[in-house]
Amino acid sequence: MPLDPASPSPQHRRHGSNMGQPLTRRDGVLKVTGRATYAADNHPDGMLYAVIAVSTIARGRVTALDVESAMAHPGVVEVLTPTNRPPLAHDPDEKMPPFGFRVEVLQDDTVRYVNQPIAMVIGETWEAATEAAALLDPQYEVESARTELKSGKRYDLAAIGIGAPPRTAHGDVEAGLKAAAQVTEADYVTPSQYHNAMEPHAIVAEWDGDRVTIDMPNQAMALSCAAYAAYFGIPAENVLIRSPFLGGGFGSKAILNGPQILAVLAARMLGRPVKLSLTRAQMYGPVGHRGRTWQKLRIGTDHDGRLTALHHRALCATSSFDEFIEPAANASLPLYASPAILAEHEGLRLDIGTPGPMRAPGEASGSAALEVAMDEAAQACGMDPLAFRLANYAETEPGTGRPFSSKALRECYAEGAKRFGWAGRPIEPRQMRDENGFLVGWGMGSAVFPCPHFPAEARATLRADGTALVETAGADMGQGAWTALAQIAAEALGLDPDQVELHSGISSLPDGGIAGGSGHTASAGLALHNAGQDAIARLAELATADPASPLFGAGNIGVVARSGRLHRRDDSGRSETYAKILTRAGRTEVVGKARAARDEAAASTHAMYSHGAVFAEVKVDPDLGQMRVTRLVGAFAAGRIINPRLVRSQYFGGMIWGISFALLEEAITDRRTGRIMNADLAEYHVPINADAPSLEAILVPEDDPYVNPLGVKGVGEIGITGTVGAIANAVWHATGVRVRRFPIRIEDVLVNQPT
Ligand code: MOS
Repeated sequence: MPLDPASPSPQHRRHGSNMGQPLTRRDGVLKVTGRATYAADNHPDGMLYAVIAVSTIARGRVTALDVESAMAHPGVVEVLTPTNRPPLAHDPDEKMPPFGFRVEVLQDDTVRYVNQPIAMVIGETWEAATEAAALLDPQYEVESARTELKSGKRYDLAAIGIGAPPRTAHGDVEAGLKAAAQVTEADYVTPSQYHNAMEPHAIVAEWDGDRVTIDMPNQAMALSCAAYAAYFGIPAENVLIRSPFLGGGFGSKAILNGPQILAVLAARMLGRPVKLSLTRAQMYGPVGHRGRTWQKLRIGTDHDGRLTALHHRALCATSSFDEFIEPAANASLPLYASPAILAEHEGLRLDIGTPGPMRAPGEASGSAALEVAMDEAAQACGMDPLAFRLANYAETEPGTGRPFSSKALRECYAEGAKRFGWAGRPIEPRQMRDENGFLVGWGMGSAVFPCPHFPAEARATLRADGTALVETAGADMGQGAWTALAQIAAEALGLDPDQVELHSGISSLPDGGIAGGSGHTASAGLALHNAGQDAIARLAELATADPASPLFGAGNIGVVARSGRLHRRDDSGRSETYAKILTRAGRTEVVGKARAARDEAAASTHAMYSHGAVFAEVKVDPDLGQMRVTRLVGAFAAGRIINPRLVRSQYFGGMIWGISFALLEEAITDRRTGRIMNADLAEYHVPINADAPSLEAILVPEDDPYVNPLGVKGVGEIGITGTVGAIANAVWHATGVRVRRFPIRIEDVLVNQPT
């Protein structure tokens, strides 16, 4: 039987080599058979249903609510408004560090954006609460909506993203531009996008005295426990969050939001469990989104097509009352070598909900502009876009000079180009047609993503029956974390993954860190690895101190764990099973514990990123302007691959987001009212199967000894960063039309089509 890495069978599972095996998802069967329980599937006894009422204006005041009619509706238990909302122990107008935002929890009658919560109705049934919410008939004092570039207020920033400086400069860009033989300068616009996870933000809260149990999808349990504790004035250990499964997070489930806090508050106020599940439309406002950007790039090149200066400026939208600034211009910092780089940001206050992290925040929107700008600079130099990238990609981190912990980017360019068949691509646009007369274009983009590492803890228990239980809090967002993490733990424990039970998804377990920034596998994985090693060390102590063991006297460093046995390192024929060691010692189990964090010494000497290159083919109907992505090839180097099946799937997901960003996604605001006109999945476009073409992801081998002891990097978000620009560049190559506003629309290529 041929060994196909995409379809493993048990005989392909190699002992002692759990990492690298394409195992299927542990939770797959539960999910496809409907047995995986999501937050909204919980129905504790006596549960009430909460429904929020949201504002239909973007700015002003609520002057009246017909609470009387709502309360009179059969089955209604309570109506929460700013008048009767119980106090919170933490001021909701104060940000909650480290990543929290100001939350709207009915603190006053002010309206600051459309879909802001203005009341919450709690009823015996969802229908009663929904009906009553519709009876509230809010009256407003309306002020004009400032939702456009012209009406927004520009301001200077103190920080961007989750705390980075708004301006970073290496060298003198003005001097570099002056010295350039060519200067390419253009403006780029990216839209507001909403996470649109399949699973809405749902929550079920049940209090018992001053303890609360919360079922909710959650990407950062320990932080959320601390935040709920602060809002409710209780110790963090009194908050239990259960988040076994997530129906998509994309950043929107890492940070507490107003509606969920109100539901927990209502449950305490009424002394009964309360469930709240946002409607799709209600997710367009209070739970974050990717903010709009207006970007300018100036690229100077010399006669050989080498960069002399790279200037990236981003104006980024945030709300009128809080801040999350998409760190878009920073996408220009780590990728291309230029003697001068300037990345700077400015804020724009609008009457919108506060943006937040969403699918490669900053990298996605910033690289979209950067990769198109690089294509334009290549064009100005008369160079092939790939040759231009090869002439300019950074060998060491620009500005700092730190070496990249690995240098696989060149290999990504080479492997991707080869697989795609890039060679022979005509430099001029509109040169290729398919058999149906469609214009064909090829474009490419570079991909880069940092490697964050969140502190995490784990526990590993070796049992006398030779199996193990490993534990760390954290949700499987669908990426397959539980499968990959079990593989890492199994490797450390010298067991097969199917001998390792993994418990996760509840906050009472050791803190698994944050499932975000594409850093979960590295962070929780290293904690599990260390915990596994700790358990093995404890087991080895038992054996090597026991005269009855064949390992007696071997000492701690003298044994290796493999296939459920400890072996003498100097004589592998002398070995003993874990079960035997534990049984003879009269133990039912041995427990290892560990925490893991970034190796700051390595992080200070090396720059840590995943790299990649994406190649796209589009076909454009020359008469109708209709665009289709017909092929995408991505080559990515992201350190050690724990599970190629899951990693490939992550890359595909990222690349499909790239299609989404390039051609489909945009929330459209009615400039008269500030209302979002397509706040649903019918008119907010995301790719479906028919939009996703033949996808290929090449896993470029990369051995990175610095990033962490496992050599693991993130794979979740890098796919989007190269793909957006690659598609936009392919559209140019097909049509000759350079579109600098996302998503690219039919009218963009039709109206501007060269004759
Ligand atoms: Mo992600 S935007 O780091 O959850």
